[in-house]
Amino acid sequence: MSIINHNNIFIIQTKFNHYVVGVDKNGFNRFYYWGEKCPIEDYQADYCGFLTSNHTDLDEMAQEYTPFGLTMYRNVDIKATFSDGCREISLDFIKSEINDNNLKLYFKDKHYPLEIILNYETYNDSDIITKWVTVKNNGNDSIIFEKLYSGEFTLPGVKPYTFKNTNGSWGAEFTETKTKLDGGSLVFESRRGTSSHNNSPQFVAYQNADENSGNVYFAVLEYSGSFKVEANRYLYGKTRIGIGLNDFDFEYVLKGSESFDTPKIHFGFTQGFGNMSRSLNRFAINHVFPSEFAKAPLPVLYNSWEATYFDVNTADQSRLAEKAAQAGVELFVMDDGWFGERKDDHAGLGDWYVNKDKFPNGLNELINNVNNLGMDFGLWVEPEMVNPDSDLFRNHPDWTYHYNTRKPSELRNQLVLNMTKPEVQNYLYNCLNKLLTDHNIKYIKWDMNRPFSEVGAENLEHPKMLWYLHTKAVYDLVDRLRKEHPHVQFECCSSGGGRADWGAFRHFDMIWTSDNTDAIDRLAIQNGYTLTRPTKAMRAWVTDTVGYNRKTPLDFRFHVAMRGSLSLGGNMQKYSEEDMRISKEYIEFYKSIRETIQFGDLYRLLNLDEDEISSDIYVSEDKSKAVLFIAAVNTRCFKKKIPLYIKGLDDNKKYSFTFNNETIVKSGAYLKNAGISLEIREQYYNDIIIIDEVK
Ligand code: DGJ
Repeated sequence: MSIINHNNIFIIQTKFNHYVVGVDKNGFNRFYYWGEKCPIEDYQADYCGFLTSNHTDLDEMAQEYTPFGLTMYRNVDIKATFSDGCREISLDFIKSEINDNNLKLYFKDKHYPLEIILNYETYNDSDIITKWVTVKNNGNDSIIFEKLYSGEFTLPGVKPYTFKNTNGSWGAEFTETKTKLDGGSLVFESRRGTSSHNNSPQFVAYQNADENSGNVYFAVLEYSGSFKVEANRYLYGKTRIGIGLNDFDFEYVLKGSESFDTPKIHFGFTQGFGNMSRSLNRFAINHVFPSEFAKAPLPVLYNSWEATYFDVNTADQSRLAEKAAQAGVELFVMDDGWFGERKDDHAGLGDWYVNKDKFPNGLNELINNVNNLGMDFGLWVEPEMVNPDSDLFRNHPDWTYHYNTRKPSELRNQLVLNMTKPEVQNYLYNCLNKLLTDHNIKYIKWDMNRPFSEVGAENLEHPKMLWYLHTKAVYDLVDRLRKEHPHVQFECCSSGGGRADWGAFRHFDMIWTSDNTDAIDRLAIQNGYTLTRPTKAMRAWVTDTVGYNRKTPLDFRFHVAMRGSLSLGGNMQKYSEEDMRISKEYIEFYKSIRETIQFGDLYRLLNLDEDEISSDIYVSEDKSKAVLFIAAVNTRCFKKKIPLYIKGLDDNKKYSFTFNNETIVKSGAYLKNAGISLEIREQYYNDIIIIDEVK
């Protein structure tokens, strides 16, 4: 049994760790322990009095889920107003329930009909734990929440922690930052309606940790909308973190008899960042991705965006498709430009019917051509948006978020549809369902290219609920379409990686990582991505973007894109015979190693920014195969030999591979501890080495 009740102390066990919570004699929910396993009988409840002074015992106490009220002045996780105006929640413990890998702790308010359930889930094959909160209104009057986080964490000890996060901007997603929280608060958040390019809905906290060692405490939030991660350190040096729906401009109203589940948090404790990334990667494959394609290797795709932008038509796309098929591409995706009056980004969004000038015989002509070339067909859509210059907007000017007295901000000439309206949801479902029913479409790229503004929603009694309801409507729509069309894969895109979060991994099969397809920048972007996100979902295109004054060679661009789910996006019409030969060779090679890349364990060996060389190895789960990537942009003359310690292999197995035209046969232990010598004297050096177990 993975959860044990030891006198109302609940020991949540994973293979290596314990997370211990409980209920104390005053009925408070409590956090007790997070780390390596200790003997069960040693865990004990904490005493907490009600002393009143400037710093009360209650204020210091570590809780699992802190409501607003009493003499607790720290950040809280939940705050609500009851119908008579009372704004405090005061809980009694009711009962616990343990069912296989699930624990539920039931609390109810001492006076009001509010029930709060703390839910936990563990997994036999993972060190990750999931937690979330259910709130139930067992009465008739509405309860208005102004804060409703998914959970709280208290980090062990009283020394300051450093928080590693991936922040960034459009074109520079997943840039790693390290911030030491010595005092006060540290907030990572999005107020944009999506999880955004700027902050990631997660925390990674550590003291003295690196890629391979040191305690790392981490959590990711399964949510694609405005979120908040709020860490603070003040009273007696304790670091606490709250994580969940952003409470900025937030309200959630629970009517009588309604209940609400917060987004889930997946969290863990590991030695080193590498173990964290690997356990999250495997967890996504085994427990989060939609089941239809979770265990299936993703196809090599071609995307038309950078080749043709909005200028799409049957003839040009068919010609591109021929080239893509010749190179070995398996799925041809036509991007923006195929619908309504879409000549550029000024018009057409919302009119999800085929543009007759560009496709006089409909889309099926192109789709047939693509299918006859042996490829599947995929299509781009941006359902949550509308251009003011569209039939949809002319017919329904009230279908966007807006205030009648304010001029709407048209970012990229578009407005956000009010997805909380059932008529908008139905319209979009009907359009997309028809597209998928009338055509042999196997792939949808779902884009979202601007944050929210002028967030009025006159249809809602409590318009501040729109932030949450919008994200829920997106999930519901995708799930509904998936149910009706289970053979269709869905990619989540938001101007590149603006929605690359665990909510997306629950509902989509992959994400678009970044609009920045420059191979050198990509090494950093992809490196940051892999910190807390699964490799398989990371779409990476080989394009014609060759940076500023840097003519990155085609083989280098393939090398970088092959570290994720390989895709192509250049104008293949202009490819020389040599380019076609390289493309064909690499695609064929990728197909032979993609299982190891998409489902293997990633060890980050060297980092371009710190080591001048970038090296990653992907090791199959049974450690019988590995694919080692080594790349450098420039190296210096004075640097001679650099050791590469190859981690991740089985110490006790022998491996063989070819490196610098030499066959090497060594044990995993030797490769890890003694390594191999790199001598890189070439610009754009890149090598991919297949390592096989010698049986
Ligand atoms: C933004 C995406 O990130 C691009 O890949 C492309 O699909 C464009 N939108 C199309 O408008």
